[in-house]
This record gives sequence, C-alpha cells and structure tokens, in this order.
Amino acid sequence: MAELFDSYGSNYREVVQSSIDFSGLSHSFFMRAKADLLRKLIAQHPGMDKPAMLDVGCGVGSLHPLLRGTVGRLSGIDVSSDCIIRARDDNPSVDYRVFDGSSFPFDEASFDLVTAICVLHHVAPVARANFIKEMRRVARPGGLICIIEHNPLNPLTRFAVMRCEFDRDAILLGAREARKLLLAGGLREIGARHFLLLPWETNRARSIESALSSMPLGAQYAAFGTA
Ligand SMILES: C[S@@+](CC[C@H](N)C(=O)[O-])C[C@H]1O[C@@H](n2cnc3c(N)ncnc32)[C@H](O)[C@@H]1O
Repeated sequence: MAELFDSYGSNYREVVQSSIDFSGLSHSFFMRAKADLLRKLIAQHPGMDKPAMLDVGCGVGSLHPLLRGTVGRLSGIDVSSDCIIRARDDNPSVDYRVFDGSSFPFDEASFDLVTAICVLHHVAPVARANFIKEMRRVARPGGLICIIEHNPLNPLTRFAVMRCEFDRDAILLGAREARKLLLAGGLREIGARHFLLLPWETNRARSIESALSSMPLGAQYAAFGTA
C-alpha cells in the first residue's frame, strides 16, 4: 500500500483530477465540500471548540489548509512516506508522521476528533475492525470519529473510481457497512450523511443536500460516531 501511494506523492492531485474531469468539477470543489461537512459535524458535536484532530491516511494533506480556524492542534498520519514529505512541505504547522498502517503512533485519548477520509476502501476488509479500534483508542471518551467514503451506490462515483489509477486496489464499502463497523468498534450515537449530490457550492445547494442526506444519493458519505 505504501508503495502504491508513494508513486503519487508529487502528482496526487493531478491523478485525482484526471479521474473526475468528466464531471467538470475540480478536486478542490470536493475538498471544500468535505471541509464544510466536517465543520458542520464539529459544530453539532458537544464540547468541540477547536478540536485536536488526527487525520488518518492524510495523503498529501490537501484538506488541511481548509481546516485552519476550525480545528486546533492537527496531526496527520499515512503509510506513504512520499505523501507525508509533500504534506509537510505544504503545511509546515501540521504534525505529520509515517506509520505502519496498523498501530497508530499516539497514546490513547490523545484527540477530540479522528478522521479517515477516503482511506478505508484501501484497507483490506479483514483489517478494518482493527483500524476502527485504533481510531477509537486514540480518541478521547466523548470524542468524534468520522469516516468519509465513496458511495458505491452512486454510478458516477463508481465510474470515477474505475478511472482512478491508485484506486485499482479499492474495495468500496457503503454507509450501512461503515455504520456496522463503527458499531462493532464500540462507538455510540452513530450516524451517516450522504453529500456531494449537487455540483454547486451555494447555500441553497448545500441546504438541499443536507435535507436529502439520509438518502444514499450523493457521491460520498460521512459515517460518524462518538467514542
Ligand atoms: C485516496 S488517498 C486519500 C488521502 C486524503 N485522506 C485525502 O482525502 O486527500 C488514500 C490514502 O490512504 C493511505 N492509506 C492506505 N492504507 C492506509 C492505512 N492502512 N493506514 C493509513 N493510511 C492508509 C494512502 O497512503 C493514501 O494516502
């Protein structure tokens, strides 16, 4: 896995862009939608003022500039050392670390918020329970755990995944499966929201998406729970 993403440390965004060019949308459009969704989840979760955040499988850190002002201390870990080198260059204030993909290099209860964004479909199904267990271990009791994943029920998402070079190992999981994983991992107050349904960033588009978020229509979904 590290080797797969190591070859994309320098051109990660370009490779993602080429897989979604057909939609006429930019990679940054998708990143802003994820940042907006995270901001909402943080605002709605009790005791989350400027949370200390760990982003597992952070890649080249594309999301991190968009979270300035929303999160406090920010750490990112990834199995790809080339991605981490690029992330450090772009975001010098973030604490980035390379790790082995199974034991997260932090003490228990170190973070208020732990995310894994478009990572789990690269983790072998047999290893996913341990991955969630580690997410929960490093989150403080009452903290928020959030997974963002491709929605396999959306045909355009499947098309984009099929076109993406580094998704050749991807085994997609739907929101129901993600919620089951979170439940089996001992998380509480589990929920899911689908998003990236409309190709606009207006407030109106965001509120329509929000109203329809329980239906599995959008290109991606967030599944979340309380540690
Ligand atoms: C599609 S990229 C997503 C990167 C970033 N989260 C984003 O949204 O831009 C998937 C990332 O997951 C990382 N990855 C794969 N398996 C992993 C594992 N077991 N633990 C942590 N990261 C992993 C890859 O190295 C890659 O950087």
